[in-house]
Amino acid sequence: MTINKQVTAIAPASVANVGAGFDIVGFALEGTGDRVTLTLDENGNNDDVINSGPFGSLIPASRLQNTAGVAVDAFLTATGRREVAIRINLEKNLPLGSGLGSSASSSAAAVYAANVLLGNLLNVDQLVQFAMEGERIACGTAHADNVAPSLLGGFVLIRSYDPLDLIRIKCPEDLFCAVVHPHIELKTSDARRILKRDIPIGDVIKQTANSAAFIAGLISGDYDLIGRSMTDLVAEPKRTQLIPGFIQAKKAAMDSGALGCGISGSGPSVFALCRGGETAWRISEAVKNSFSTEGLESEGYVSTLNAPGAGIVEL
Ligand code: HSE
Repeated sequence: MTINKQVTAIAPASVANVGAGFDIVGFALEGTGDRVTLTLDENGNNDDVINSGPFGSLIPASRLQNTAGVAVDAFLTATGRREVAIRINLEKNLPLGSGLGSSASSSAAAVYAANVLLGNLLNVDQLVQFAMEGERIACGTAHADNVAPSLLGGFVLIRSYDPLDLIRIKCPEDLFCAVVHPHIELKTSDARRILKRDIPIGDVIKQTANSAAFIAGLISGDYDLIGRSMTDLVAEPKRTQLIPGFIQAKKAAMDSGALGCGISGSGPSVFALCRGGETAWRISEAVKNSFSTEGLESEGYVSTLNAPGAGIVEL
């Protein structure tokens, strides 16, 4: 007799880098994310991932190339459960190459579901390393600044990668984010390839000061400090050229009341932080209008910085 057991999990989109925090900080976004359903089938085998949803036809089915498949298999290997046969259904709701942590959302939901399916073998922090393997497949680098917030929720600082040391930062409740996704695709691997390998020591000092000050601003609720710390000397100067109209979009955000504005992850999405949800929606509209003058359609999202992470969907 076949005994099937099924778990569905959802994990949110996320904004990574957040100003001066290249590869070390990110936060979860409310209201959107990929869903993964895992089915335990004692007589089954580990077939390809079954992709669905608006962007499901654009991603590989092979478990070796699909971020959800890679994350689940990394988890099974590490927990000594490689013999367990699991069918993976991925509902791909987030656009690819968007800067919204799309690949991370799939792998975070997958590994979260796998852990619940097998009886909560590990805590959520321990799952991050397996979701990172999905990032390695997606862009060539196992960065954690999308998968960590997607799994844990809220704003997460990665103090160290080896060993992985994750720090949750509680953000002010009135701090909001507007994110606008212009409809072009940017591969993270390409956006990483163009970065400088060597950063002048003077820029390292400014970048370190800004990232430290930004965290201090979040913890103390000092909105002015948050805003004036949002200067990135590592990724934004090189990536601006990849996003048509980025400079105008940033100006539109700042003119509409943003504390600061930058590229979300590796782009092309743009994010801005501000005080209050109404201001965030106003910024979102202004940035969308700015992109439309470039002939680009876009959509906007608004979120606090304390959004929930991955969770189980009760069907
Ligand atoms: N920190 C990564 C990068 C995030 O900027 O390349 C990618 O979403």
